[in-house]
Amino acid sequence: MPDHSTIAPFPGSAIPHVGTYRRVLPVSLERMYENTLDWEHLPYVHASNFADIRCEEAGAWGWRAWTTDHRGHETLIELRLDKTCRRWITRNLEGRSKGAEIWTHAFPIAEQRVDIVVDFFVPDVAHEAREKVGLVYAGLYETLYDQDVAMMVERQRQLDRRVGGAIGTTPAESRVSLGPRAGLQFPCATQIGGREYIVAEVGGELVVYPAVCPHQSGPLATSELKNGIVVCPWHGYGFDVRTGDCTTGQSCRLSNLPELVETDGELTLVRP
Ligand code: FES
Ligand SMILES: [Fe+2]
Repeated sequence: MPDHSTIAPFPGSAIPHVGTYRRVLPVSLERMYENTLDWEHLPYVHASNFADIRCEEAGAWGWRAWTTDHRGHETLIELRLDKTCRRWITRNLEGRSKGAEIWTHAFPIAEQRVDIVVDFFVPDVAHEAREKVGLVYAGLYETLYDQDVAMMVERQRQLDRRVGGAIGTTPAESRVSLGPRAGLQFPCATQIGGREYIVAEVGGELVVYPAVCPHQSGPLATSELKNGIVVCPWHGYGFDVRTGDCTTGQSCRLSNLPELVETDGELTLVRP
């Protein structure tokens, strides 16, 4: 194994290199950058590692935020994206592992394939412990990227459906019969105009809401509906499916919902 102990994140740095994680991800560089700048998903997509996040500042340059783990430990993390170098650097500015830096370089090798090289620099680690610490970081990144890939691939699928015309406006799809209400089990999935919806029962009333989140196309269909509120698993935005209102304060809502018409016990979905 090569000795990386003298590799430093920048000339003159005293932070030792403890390990590298490398992987080819089935996503575009655009999805990678989007994911990198997306601080909001940490406590939701990576709920096993992050309990909370409070953003101090964010922009096209990156973000700086206080994260809290499940033991209540707080860490101020800063991420800086440098697209010119296809690189982003994450630094722990305060709290646990203060001074640690994680440098990620991305190499696009096809439209939907990116080779990433993640280098871990951790201060105050004895020379003989570096390999062990590096393996811990690599294991953590394996899990984080498994979770990120699932999100990025699904988001790409939703974007491709839009571009590919699956979500269209054909007159033939302006009404969809769901059949007798008595024969349906709620919640159930349906489609109209290429868009996916969920029909559910809230307090004895039937409601229709999109299976896909209006924020960044997260899967509302997989979230349990509680008291008429659905919470998106990607960034935690909540929506009241009866009104479409966002219950968590973001400027986002469920809109253009189809109407559900019941005639002689038969349900029909009608496009707005
Ligand atoms: S995709 Fe962001 S909250 Fe749903
Ligand atoms: Fe992530």
